[in-house]
Amino acid sequence: MVRTLGLTQLTMIGIGAIIGAGIFSLAAAVARDVAGPAVLLSFLVAGAASLCAAFAYAEFAGMVPKAGSSYTYCAAVLGEIVGWIVGWDLLLEYTAIVAVVAIGMSGYLGFLLEAVGIHLPAWALGAPGTGAGHRVDLLAVAICLAVAWLLTRGTRTSARVETVLTVVKIAIVLLVIVVGFTKVRTGNLHPFAPFGFGGAFTGAATVFFAVFGYDALSTAAEESVEARRKLPKAMMLSLAVSMVLYVLVCVVLTGMQRYSELNPNSGISSAFRSVGLSGLANVIAVGAVIGIVTVTFSFMMGAARLWYALSRDGLMPAWFGAIHPRRKVPHRATWLIGIVSAVLAGLLPINAVAELTNIGVLLAFVVVSASVLVLRYRKPHLQRGFRCPGMPVVPVLGMAFSVWLMSFLQWETWVRLGGWLVVGLALYAGYGYRRTRTVMPGGSVDLDDLDRMSESDDPAPAPTP
Ligand code: ALA
Repeated sequence: MVRTLGLTQLTMIGIGAIIGAGIFSLAAAVARDVAGPAVLLSFLVAGAASLCAAFAYAEFAGMVPKAGSSYTYCAAVLGEIVGWIVGWDLLLEYTAIVAVVAIGMSGYLGFLLEAVGIHLPAWALGAPGTGAGHRVDLLAVAICLAVAWLLTRGTRTSARVETVLTVVKIAIVLLVIVVGFTKVRTGNLHPFAPFGFGGAFTGAATVFFAVFGYDALSTAAEESVEARRKLPKAMMLSLAVSMVLYVLVCVVLTGMQRYSELNPNSGISSAFRSVGLSGLANVIAVGAVIGIVTVTFSFMMGAARLWYALSRDGLMPAWFGAIHPRRKVPHRATWLIGIVSAVLAGLLPINAVAELTNIGVLLAFVVVSASVLVLRYRKPHLQRGFRCPGMPVVPVLGMAFSVWLMSFLQWETWVRLGGWLVVGLALYAGYGYRRTRTVMPGGSVDLDDLDRMSESDDPAPAPTP
């Protein structure tokens, strides 16, 4: 791989993975059901939590500029079993992200179909419990399967295409902000917190979905110039830009339409239609679909790569991670992820799947922050392209924030995570534990590898599918 990506392109990739269904779909749903206009605060709280974890991620990314994910780092610092738990947890998280984004896209696609006079039957309009007669979110199912199909065909979006799509997405968001501001009626912003500030915090645990994605940047490590210095910067910058845009969109959204009337499926477009801007509402819907499709691609590919890495390291049977001889993609893992995300997207409401994602990400944030802390004391002299400021307060705050946000999630979400982890631990006990001992060393980074890597000698590209 050639190192061609600079700070601007890396930041664009970061924004491409951060801005997605979180702002386009969840903002309206959370404002309507639990936060009101105070959804703005939900985003700020979630953003602060994510920022603390982003510092920790950035320190990691600056140390191991290798196309691995947090699972590799955590395995190196806290041991194989912790690494496995993170890897297994991320597998669920990435798959659920694909589902959430597909449900979000489905809402806007449905909006467009309605606009051109195509009406799907009620049973196909959403998951059970989301509306009268709803049985399955057919469009979301189709999106998951279509993306899996494209990826197994070897389809790749180049960094250049991703940059163009991200520019389109930012342009749409700016359009929403600029035009939307002219339609804000301050009366809609009162009362600001109709469900109390507790509602805003509960909302933060859901809209947290909107504020991560920069961790996907580590997969671009091997293609970036001066990865150690530029990756951490790109993470911070992409989060900062996204947060500014989010706050402005929240004001516009809840200022244009009363929170109780927001449409949870196609919030922003519906708000524009409610003030008589139907043409623009359609343009926004097209932009939302184009803009968030990149998130589906990056995370489904991320999940397939993770599956590949877990199989390579002996933690999962090699069968799953097998690479297609001609197309050079982990086709079985990709189909599996496509099918599981399709089932989640078809049968669960967006909030439930977003919570499932968030609990997984928050757990990973806790472990990553802990790893950064431990490594600072165990290997203080290791070369770091970026140093997490305010040690040890910031990572401890990151952990505390994450656990606090997790406490707002529904008990069903905890049960789902618990069940997933029990299955994971059983798999490790029955398979991974013995198997890794015949496959490693060689697969994973260990602490001594970290010691050997220096500024001038970034690691050789790992075999990525
Ligand atoms: N942050 C990403 C989104 O909102 C996952 O779609």
